[in-house]
Amino acid sequence: MPPGCLAAPAGSKGVFAGKVAVVTGSESGIGRETARLLCQQGAAVVLNGRNAERLEATRQEFEAAGFAVASCLADVTDYAACETLIDTAIRTFGQLDILITNASISQRAYFADMQPEVFRQVLDSNVYGTVYPLKAALPYLTQTKGSVTFISSISALNGMPSGSAYCAGKAAVSNLAHTLRLELAATGIHFGVVHIGFTQNDPEKRVLDAAGQPVPIAHRPPRWQKTQAEVAGIILSHIRRRRQRTVISALGRLIVLVHTWLPRLGDWIVLRTTRRLRHFYE
Ligand SMILES: NC(=O)c1ccc[n+]([C@@H]2O[C@H](COP(=O)([O-])OP(=O)(O)OC[C@H]3O[C@@H](n4cnc5c(N)ncnc54)[C@H](OP(=O)(O)O)[C@@H]3O)[C@@H](O)[C@H]2O)c1
Repeated sequence: MPPGCLAAPAGSKGVFAGKVAVVTGSESGIGRETARLLCQQGAAVVLNGRNAERLEATRQEFEAAGFAVASCLADVTDYAACETLIDTAIRTFGQLDILITNASISQRAYFADMQPEVFRQVLDSNVYGTVYPLKAALPYLTQTKGSVTFISSISALNGMPSGSAYCAGKAAVSNLAHTLRLELAATGIHFGVVHIGFTQNDPEKRVLDAAGQPVPIAHRPPRWQKTQAEVAGIILSHIRRRRQRTVISALGRLIVLVHTWLPRLGDWIVLRTTRRLRHFYE
């Protein structure tokens, strides 16, 4: 362990006692709740985000709860910033066992209307925002035979109107996980993907419109949504069992089944549902 760093909380209780985790995009939303549950189950966690105020508020809240926590302001599409992020885990807690790449920008824009630069921004946040933290973390995860989880979406398994760059990015990282699982099998590192379905959002969550302006997400029927805490629980169970793929919710699994075996019916349902939702909520 490097001199001067805190020990991972070996004395703490819980399934993840003694483990050190980095969760990207954890100043808010699902990332924050996943980080909270990891802490509650004994891990030390490095929080991350791009908004200094929100990140510090989350860090203080966690510290006040008695959690072993550090934070690093870093844009995960910047490789040097990712090296600093991983270095924060090593300097503060001396090791790295778990990486969850959760940071992501989503969109609410049709491909035909989208500025090319906005497409790139959404794609970069989902692809390089996954690749860069992992690349920086790999030597340390190799030492601990650690665990990597890419947070993806049901929409990585099928298309979604108004989500072209987002779906393409999430699909890319699913494939990346498979390739790395094969290529790095000898390291003993776990590579998994969690495909999340509709989940409750922080009220201040924003996605990008066609011109790159932040806008609220499209309205969704509340009965379709899981809570962030439920999703965090499923992510932790996925890590604990070192699963390759977890598809969240019965609705999510049904969507995958229909798209795999009855793709035309799947497309018809998606188009009909999006038309109906647009009619009701826009
Ligand atoms: N909510 C859902 O219904 C749903 C469904 C399927 C999949 N997911 C996936 O679940 C994950 C979490 O989603 P969420 O709903 O919790 O979204 P969220 O509330 O917007 O959280 C995403 C976090 O990532 C941060 N972030 C974005 N780009 C970043 C970057 N380049 N560097 C560092 N931090 C960055 C955001 O902060 P700033 O933008 O302020 O920096 C924010 O804190 C995402 O991967 C998302 O695709 C969510």
